Amino acid sequence: MSDSPLSYAHDNHDRFLNELIELVSIPSVSTLPEHRPDMRRAARWLEDRLNDIGVSAETAGSEDYPLVYGEWLKAPGKPTVLVYGHYDVQPAEPLELWTTPPFQPQVRNGNLYGRGSSDDKGQTLTSIYAAESYLRTAGSLPLNVKFILEGQEESGGAVIKEFVQQHSDRLKADTVQISDGHMFGPGIPTLDVGLRGIVYTEIQARGASHDLHSGLYGGVAPNPLNALAWVISSLKGPDGHITIPGFYDSVQSVSDDVLQAWSRLPVDQVEFVKEETGISELAGEKDYTPFQRMWARPTLDVHGIAGGFVGEGAKTVIPAEATAKVSMRIVPDQKAEDVFRQYREAVLKLAPPGIELEVRLIHGDDPVLVPQDSSYIAAAQQAMQATFGRPGVPVRSGGSIPIVGIFKDQLGLNSVLMGWGLPDDNLHAPNEKFRVQNFYDGIDATIRFWDMAAGSTRASA
Ligand code: BES
Ligand code: MN
Ligand code: MN
Repeated sequence: MSDSPLSYAHDNHDRFLNELIELVSIPSVSTLPEHRPDMRRAARWLEDRLNDIGVSAETAGSEDYPLVYGEWLKAPGKPTVLVYGHYDVQPAEPLELWTTPPFQPQVRNGNLYGRGSSDDKGQTLTSIYAAESYLRTAGSLPLNVKFILEGQEESGGAVIKEFVQQHSDRLKADTVQISDGHMFGPGIPTLDVGLRGIVYTEIQARGASHDLHSGLYGGVAPNPLNALAWVISSLKGPDGHITIPGFYDSVQSVSDDVLQAWSRLPVDQVEFVKEETGISELAGEKDYTPFQRMWARPTLDVHGIAGGFVGEGAKTVIPAEATAKVSMRIVPDQKAEDVFRQYREAVLKLAPPGIELEVRLIHGDDPVLVPQDSSYIAAAQQAMQATFGRPGVPVRSGGSIPIVGIFKDQLGLNSVLMGWGLPDDNLHAPNEKFRVQNFYDGIDATIRFWDMAAGSTRASA
């Protein structure tokens, strides 16, 4: 029998990996209604795992996007860590680009391939197995832990937002801990100090009352697809500058200290991005470094345009309507609400004659910065040092985790963001993978983090 949590974890590596494979096999795609039963199955799987190890857990929130909530609170006088993770995944399409099927996970070259292996099932399980390793050896955790695992992160997280609002008492804690990001590179641990926010929208354009023959009416008929192309290209040109009036007013510039720290990171930023992405020349604002552009500058992107004819061959039609999905990544101190208002106004002003535009907000979340002077950040640094032989590199991330800002606003809690993925994990893309060693290191680092954090003074009574 293993006597320490760390040796228990090491002795159980194979089983942990097999269980991760089991969880990744459940296609819990939150955006697609046909996967609702899989959402419930995945939630149930996590609830059972937590209860099995002695963390009392239940599902809550909603039938369609169940939230798994569990707590182990038998360390009076010790701090409480609120662990967040998400078990929903992005759609796996296009399926033909996967080497092995997305929901039949396979280990190749030390990586587990499968949708959600890195984002965020593998990373979520690191905390559950850290808890198991303590509870099955010491019989207790060094501090109090509350788990909140959501099934709607990839779709904006309305359910967890309501839950946090309604249960702020129950969720009281001293810090939040999240593993839903990535390390700088293999063996180079990372502490995320900031995340961008997001404003995700849909623009619907309507022209004639029905589709028209483009020969008969071309020249007088307003074309919703042309209109969307016009609107979109007017919002941002090839120089990366966004033309929405007032858009940059509250964008904070990055201090020289931070900029210098970023430029000291051990990579050539341009080459780093090219290598990870296959991009031949970087787009965007030339006056800013690539890391600045990705981490500390806002941007605007189109994700899809639907409408008209996209079949084989030719069809001469002027469609009656078309829609586009457009999102903006926003940075401190922009506010999602204000940005949406400015954007909506700018879009409506761009409508060509005869085109009616409707602008809808799908979800919006503010950016966050995490202060670095807390004892929990120090504990995370010690845990990383002990696990990887070096402290975490402080970086920001361009991605968004909507709940981080809500934890701050509603619960007054800062988050410790320790990601265990890698930049080339193919998040949201075909052939998503999670490096098996990172899975194991993540468990070790979490075990150590709780040990170190247990010595912190409690922030809340
Ligand atoms: N885990 C990612 C965000 C992330 C990736 C943070 C890498 C740090 C490093 C998360 O699951 C995600 O994809 N978020 C969405 C949020 C959106 C759908 C509201 C995103 O950023 O697009
Ligand atoms: Mn994620
Ligand atoms: Mn994601």
